[in-house]
Amino acid sequence: MITEIQDYNLKGVNTFRIDVCCRRWIEYSEAVDLVTVADMVAGEKYMCIGEGSNLLFLGDYDGAILHSRILDAEMTSDGSVTYLRAGSGISMDSLIGQCCVNGLWGLENLSGIPGETGASAVQNVGAYGVEAKDVISSVECFDMVKREFVRFDADECDYAYRWSMFKRPELKNRYIVTYVTFRLSAIPAPCLSYGNLAAQCGDISSLTPMVVRNAVMALRESKLPSVEEIGSAGSFFKNPVVDRNVFDDVRRIAGDDTVVPHYDMGDKVKIPAAWLIEQCGFKGRSFGNVGVWHKQPLVIVNLTGKASSDEVLELEEMIVKRIEERFGITLTPEVEHIK
Ligand code: EPU
Repeated sequence: MITEIQDYNLKGVNTFRIDVCCRRWIEYSEAVDLVTVADMVAGEKYMCIGEGSNLLFLGDYDGAILHSRILDAEMTSDGSVTYLRAGSGISMDSLIGQCCVNGLWGLENLSGIPGETGASAVQNVGAYGVEAKDVISSVECFDMVKREFVRFDADECDYAYRWSMFKRPELKNRYIVTYVTFRLSAIPAPCLSYGNLAAQCGDISSLTPMVVRNAVMALRESKLPSVEEIGSAGSFFKNPVVDRNVFDDVRRIAGDDTVVPHYDMGDKVKIPAAWLIEQCGFKGRSFGNVGVWHKQPLVIVNLTGKASSDEVLELEEMIVKRIEERFGITLTPEVEHIK
């Protein structure tokens, strides 16, 4: 079934809670509906949205926004591997909750990430040492150009840190995700190497996916604002990956008494953007309706619920400029800016 609403207010469907409208809001509950939807938006500007948890609308959207309500899921088992084929409109966190209830390993570290299944496969969401790509087996889509259904194995999707081929400029909005198949396991396969996740899990001899899920949720709640209570789009910037000489400069600038957190990545080094932002004095500061979250400076928040996208952009620019001046590193936003 397809439903369409004209001049739809998007405040409730973007977690930043920016008060803007789109010209047409179109929802579809079955993959086959996309054949008709393609006709409905032919020649017009359009985009897909999930839960709107990684977007910053820069103003009203003069086009159609497509939202999946494909909500069915099925599980098949092949010996030790369970394949879960999930509709793109299912909330990732409720899906993960169900997997954990059923004792299935694979997605538990991604607990608590806002967003829907389809978007997770586009964005390659990640947290606590796991990325969606580690668990995705295949992604089914409707090709808006060829008007046909296609299926990609995960290794065809060009996955990398917060990246997939679906984000390539020339492919943007061409493939509309209908189903994502995850590869899960009933055999224990915990991934606890990130930060203090293992400690948070307590007695690791009696681990279940639900124990890990609860530990991840507790860690997230201790650092990240709840999107139900305060508008944000999670991490606003990506963690920069820099050459070793740039990292050596950062160490020198930080001074001998400061340990610079980092992760070695072959001949490059990843530095937490949160640390850079904190070093530049932004942690916990507010600027009118917007602010930098006091527990995790990677998150820009809509403090009053009345922030405009201009205020967010001004703060973004201020942070980027200050870090460039101090450390010579240019942060790039993780959050997608929509015109
Ligand atoms: N740090 C600080 N100050 C702070 C917080 C963190 O200096 O106030 C430094 C610390 O050195 C800390 C390091 O940053 O060890 C990493 O912090 P954290 O574990 O919170 O992770 P992150 O790199 O800041 C990433 C993801 C988050 C995800 C967490 C946990 C990105 C852009 N963000 O943040 O994802 O929840 O890891 O795995 O990769 C999101 O994408 O919206 C998101 C929340």
